[in-house]
Amino acid sequence: MSYSIDQVMTSAPVMPVMVIEHLEHAVPLAKALVAGGLPVLEITLRTPCALEAISAIKAAVPGAIVGAGTVNTPELLDAAVAAGSDFLVSPGSTPALIDKALAVGVPMLPGVCTPSEAMALLERGISRMKFFPAEAAGGVDMLKSIYGPLPQIKFCPTGGINLAKAPSYLALPNIACVGGSWIAPKDLVEAGKWDEITALAAEAAALAN
Ligand code: 3PG
Repeated sequence: MSYSIDQVMTSAPVMPVMVIEHLEHAVPLAKALVAGGLPVLEITLRTPCALEAISAIKAAVPGAIVGAGTVNTPELLDAAVAAGSDFLVSPGSTPALIDKALAVGVPMLPGVCTPSEAMALLERGISRMKFFPAEAAGGVDMLKSIYGPLPQIKFCPTGGINLAKAPSYLALPNIACVGGSWIAPKDLVEAGKWDEITALAAEAAALAN
C-alpha cells in the first residue's frame, strides 16, 4: 500500500520521531505508538540499525505508516526506499536530494526554515515540508508570518516541540501535524515501558489537527 504525502501528514496530529538504538526495540516501540493512536512513524537514519528497524516494523506492525528521517543524501534516500519506507523526511533540502526524490517519486517532507528555502521547493512543485528546527527557527510566530505570503504550503514542524507546545502549532492554518521525540523517550524505550509509551501516544493523538 502506498500513501500520499497528505495522507502521511493528516493521519494523526503528531508524528513520533524515533531513534532506534537496538533493533529489538523497533517493533514493540512501533506497536506501542500505533496502539496509542499514532500510526505515522519517523525512524531517523542516525543509528546503525535504523534501516533494519524500518523493514522490521513494516513487516510486523499492520497499520503503521513508516517513514525514514534524517535522509540527508541521495544515497540514503535510495537505501531508505529499498528498506520499504512509505515516506521520507529530511532536515534540509539540497538540489541533489530534491532531484533524487522527484526522480524516485517517493512521498517526502524536505526540511526548510526560511521563506527562500520554501520558495525554492515551491519552484520544484513541492508544497509539503518539514519546518526544522522549529523552536530554534522562530516556532509559531515564524510559521504564522510565513502563512501570509505563502499560504499554499503545509508544514510539519519538528525540533523542540512537546505536548505543551504542540497545540499552538496545530492551531495554525498551515500546520498539518507536528513531529517530536517526546512520545518515545530514550529512558522508557531502554526500560521497555511500552504501556507508558502508549499512554504518551494517546495524549498526543487526542490533540486536534
Ligand atoms: C529531529 O529530527 O531530531 C526532530 O526534529 C525531533 O526533534 P525533537 O527531538 O526536538 O522532538
